[in-house]
Amino acid sequence: MDFSDELIKWYLENKRDLPWRHTTDAYIIWLSEVILQQTRVGQGLPYFNRFAEKYPTVNDFAAADEDEVLRLWQGLGYYSRGRNMLKTARMVRDEYGGTFPTTYDELIKLKGIGEYTAAAIASFAANELRAVVDGNVYRVLARYFGIAEPINSTGGKKIFQATATDFLNKKKPAVHNQAIMEFGAMLCKPKNPACGICPIRLACYAFKYNATAALPVKLKK
Ligand code: ADE
Repeated sequence: MDFSDELIKWYLENKRDLPWRHTTDAYIIWLSEVILQQTRVGQGLPYFNRFAEKYPTVNDFAAADEDEVLRLWQGLGYYSRGRNMLKTARMVRDEYGGTFPTTYDELIKLKGIGEYTAAAIASFAANELRAVVDGNVYRVLARYFGIAEPINSTGGKKIFQATATDFLNKKKPAVHNQAIMEFGAMLCKPKNPACGICPIRLACYAFKYNATAALPVKLKK
C-alpha cells in the first residue's frame, strides 16, 4: 500500500462521524468549511448544525438578513466571515440561479473562498482532482517526506502544494483529502504525535530521524 492507501485505510477505521461528511451538497460543505476556518471542530459543530437547520438551502441563506446571520454567528469571532457568507449566498442566488458551484475555477471567484476552501468543496462535492493544503496537511507532509522549507515562505508553499498534488489519490480525491486532514488532526498532532500507533511510521522521515518536534518549519516574521 502507498502513502494515500494507508491514510485512507486509517481514516475509514478511525474517522469521527461528522455531519458534513455525509453529503455531497456543495452548499452544505461550504457552510462547514467556512465555519471551521480558524475554528476547532468541537466549537464549530453546534454552529454548523444551527446554520444547516435554519438555512437548509443557499436560497434560504440568501434570504436572511444580516442581523440574523450575525446573531447566529455570535461567539465564533471574525464576523467578516459571517458577512462574507451572506454576500456569497446572495451571489450564488443571483448569478448562479441558486446552484452552488462545484468546480474549483468557479468557486475561487466567490467572496471568502480561497485556495483551500475551493479545493475542499470541489473535491468533496464533485471528486475534482484538487489537493487540499491546510495546517494539518503541511504537518503530515513535512514530517513524512522530510520537507524542511518553511510553510510560510513563498517557495515553501509551492513545494507543499506540489507535493500534496503529486500524492493526491487520483481515483479517490475526496476521501484522500478527508483522510490526510483527519490524520493530521487526530494522530500526527502538533505536540505529542501518536507515532507509537502510526501505520506509516516505518516510512516516515520524522519518525526515523526523531524530528517530529522540528517539522514543519515555520519562520518567525
Ligand atoms: N476542518 C476543516 N475542514 C474539515 C473537515 N472537512 N473535517 C474535519 N475538520 C475540518
